[in-house]
Amino acid sequence: MELDPETLGARDMYQWLICSVLPRPIAWVSTISPDGKTNLAPFSFFQAVCARPPTLLFCPANDRHGHPKDTLRNVEATREFVVNLVPHTLADSMNATSATLPYGESEFDRFHVESRPSTKVRPPRVAGVPIAFECRLDRVIALGEGPVAGHVVLGRIVYLHVADQVLAADGKPDPVLMDLVGRAGRDDYVRMGELFRLERPA
Ligand SMILES: Cc1cc2nc3c(=O)[nH]c(=O)nc-3n(C[C@H](O)[C@H](O)[C@H](O)COP(=O)(O)O)c2cc1C
Repeated sequence: MELDPETLGARDMYQWLICSVLPRPIAWVSTISPDGKTNLAPFSFFQAVCARPPTLLFCPANDRHGHPKDTLRNVEATREFVVNLVPHTLADSMNATSATLPYGESEFDRFHVESRPSTKVRPPRVAGVPIAFECRLDRVIALGEGPVAGHVVLGRIVYLHVADQVLAADGKPDPVLMDLVGRAGRDDYVRMGELFRLERPA
């Protein structure tokens, strides 16, 4: 089978992407509006992209009416966000927070997600996650326009909160102890399965 994106609609192309590029890590992004209302939503178009400066990205698409999602509105207005990693114990809560609520209604309150204050930014972080990255907005790159058009949000990591109990003997996170969930296609998710090692060539 061969496909030319020019012949696919956006919805079909989206399905091809989410069923092909996997497993995807999930950024559970907390933000705050200029008048102090918190917001929380998951994004699996997400990756760490640079150590110097420490940078990660996630990609909120426009909704099907062409409007920006609440997360992007808040990030553009306040230039701060927190990326919380999602352990298996919080997978249901994470999924619940992907519901579309009116702008200003907090997913923290609506779905009883416990929060903790952040250190350097205003949006709170999620309690009980293995790692939370406090970020300041670096830049937003717009991709396309209108319904489902995308945005790459690049964030500078300014502070990390790490749960001591997920650390391995070398002082870095242990993948099994973190027990993160990743997104596959459709409504499927993965947990850390079998690990194998490959020595890097010199
Ligand atoms: C696991 C998961 C991953 C998601 N990844 C994305 C994504 O990468 N980009 C996106 O625009 N929406 C994604 N969504 C949908 C958003 O979470 C959803 O549109 C949410 O309502 C946005 O919230 P907001 O309007 O409060 O920002 C994802 C949903 C789930 C459950």
